[in-house]
Amino acid sequence: MKNELIAATTSHFKSQFGKDPSYVFLSPGRINIIGEHVDYNDGFVLPAAIDKYVCVAIQPTQNNTIRLIAKDLQDSYAFEYNEPLVPINKTWVNYILGVVHQLVKSNNNPLGCDIVISSNIPIGAGLSSSAALSCGICYAFNEVFSLGLSKKEIALIGQLSEHEFAGVKCGIMDQFASVFGKENQVIKLDCNTLEYEYYPANFNDYTLLLLDSKVKHTHLTSGYNTRRMEVEAGLMQIKSQYAKVASFRDCTMEMLHNIENKMDALYYKRCCFVVQEIERVQLAVRALESDDFIALGKLMTATHEGLSKLYEVSCDELDFLVSKALEDTSVLGARMMGGGFGGCSINLIRKDAVDDFIFKMQKQYHQHFDIELHGYKINISQGSSTYHRATTI
Ligand code: GLA
Repeated sequence: MKNELIAATTSHFKSQFGKDPSYVFLSPGRINIIGEHVDYNDGFVLPAAIDKYVCVAIQPTQNNTIRLIAKDLQDSYAFEYNEPLVPINKTWVNYILGVVHQLVKSNNNPLGCDIVISSNIPIGAGLSSSAALSCGICYAFNEVFSLGLSKKEIALIGQLSEHEFAGVKCGIMDQFASVFGKENQVIKLDCNTLEYEYYPANFNDYTLLLLDSKVKHTHLTSGYNTRRMEVEAGLMQIKSQYAKVASFRDCTMEMLHNIENKMDALYYKRCCFVVQEIERVQLAVRALESDDFIALGKLMTATHEGLSKLYEVSCDELDFLVSKALEDTSVLGARMMGGGFGGCSINLIRKDAVDDFIFKMQKQYHQHFDIELHGYKINISQGSSTYHRATTI
């Protein structure tokens, strides 16, 4: 699949620009095992890059124009990198404009170039196709124009680009996973300090399987930003009662219970989720270290409960997928994954049961919602990387 994507992107480049690209880059989407909606709340997350990618084929030119072609969307756009940049009405372009804007702002100018992008990350499925695009572009510019940016800087530029040009006040998890991913390793990221550690993604007889609800998370932008506002307001109320609380990490459920009647009821619910989820990630890491997959599965399922009832970012289709999955004895845990309001569920399932499970779930899902369910068997892969660099340019 990866090779087909690269071949198709490269040959499209040739047919559109009449020459081969001198560079080809890959930037992956991500899964998240646990730690949802806590990356912007000073929590911990446990994501990993997957073998679904945005491919960027690029050739520097001698002028100031950046010419873009989105192969899959059959769309194109061109702009001068040194002119003032603002968001336009093409979403895919904004992720790239946002990156160029950040680079120019920090005196890391890219130069003129021709670019073709193509991707096999399903869009709107909660697999961070947007982070893969912005980080892929930033990674590519960093290599092609020798900007000297660190991986951390690339991830942060991707995040800022999403804040300013896509309007989603996202955390850092998606960009970090896309850039820092390692084959067969999950990343435990401390979203407060950006310190990170890798853990082997070894689930013995079990594996991670995604089920794509095919509900596109169209409410993500508004819903996501609203949740962020709610927890920020909730944290202010907590701080007004406990002077020592600097972030959610200093807060316990006991403290929350004690001030429940002093808090707005909605903010209280949201904050309960955040405090519990931060704790669950710590427990999940311990479960992973001791190969206790039953415990890991239970934590994932508890996360779903919280996301659905307390944080309210699930939807009927995802709740259905999770509850039906949990009826299957081969499934140790299931939950919605990513920002929510649609997208995929992630299931910890016995390897030998995967095919039957997908078949069974497809049937039930179709009967209930009249939607074709899609199962993705994923492999945990390397983060943003250079696939091809011409020796003479
Ligand atoms: C989206 C955001 C991330 C993170 C997740 C929820 O994917 O981009 O920063 O907040 O939602 O965990």
